[in-house]
Amino acid sequence: MIKLGHRGYSEKYPENTMLAFKKAIEGNFDGIETDVHLTKDNRLVLIHDEKINRTSNGKGYVKDYTYQQLCQFNFNYRFKDIDAKIPLLEELLDYCMDKNVILNIEIKTDKIQYLNIEKMTYEMVKEKGLLNKVMFSSFHLNSLLKLRELDDTLYLGYLYEDNYEINKKKVFKYKFDAAHPKYVFLNEKEIEDYHRHGVDVNTWTVNNEDIKNFLSEAGVKTIITNRDI
Ligand code: G3P
Ligand code: CA
Repeated sequence: MIKLGHRGYSEKYPENTMLAFKKAIEGNFDGIETDVHLTKDNRLVLIHDEKINRTSNGKGYVKDYTYQQLCQFNFNYRFKDIDAKIPLLEELLDYCMDKNVILNIEIKTDKIQYLNIEKMTYEMVKEKGLLNKVMFSSFHLNSLLKLRELDDTLYLGYLYEDNYEINKKKVFKYKFDAAHPKYVFLNEKEIEDYHRHGVDVNTWTVNNEDIKNFLSEAGVKTIITNRDI
């Protein structure tokens, strides 16, 4: 089973920072999961929320700041002794280029549909030669369909945490490579059903070792976890 650090090694380091990504990749994780948003000057940055309030000492929407403006803030989240700036997707990809890692890039478009974010993300990953190491995912169906339009060989996973049955049907209808449901929906029967349809199961956020072991036995391909379990 593949183990990805959720927003990097986020139990121990500030989420979605180069420090958290490096610690996961240098440590026991097979790679990392991260979230991409777009700044006012069209730079792809890695942060979970649409606003910078929770994870930095600033306030407001990512989309209302240029990248240079965002660099004024400390994105150390709850880790008070650390200095961390917001990473560009490019920085993460450059770091990963010579490493054996798997990346799950979530296009964060469920609340704000950033213009062209799918194409920009795709082009950036392609330019760095990392398309074969990336699983793209999104809660926003349209983002996955746009990615498929760009390149029908991309590995695409549909994220969901509610309307389980409806969303599961969408995974089958659109023939996505993977389902990315929250782990609470999964049992042996559900996992088998995805497999019968030729769909991988990649799930989050699994922070418990017993649950991890159960999912591994049942054939889940990937867990996304905050912890080194
Ligand atoms: O990709 C799995 C997980 O990251 C989805 O939820 O809210 O942590 O982005 P969230
Ligand atoms: Ca995410």
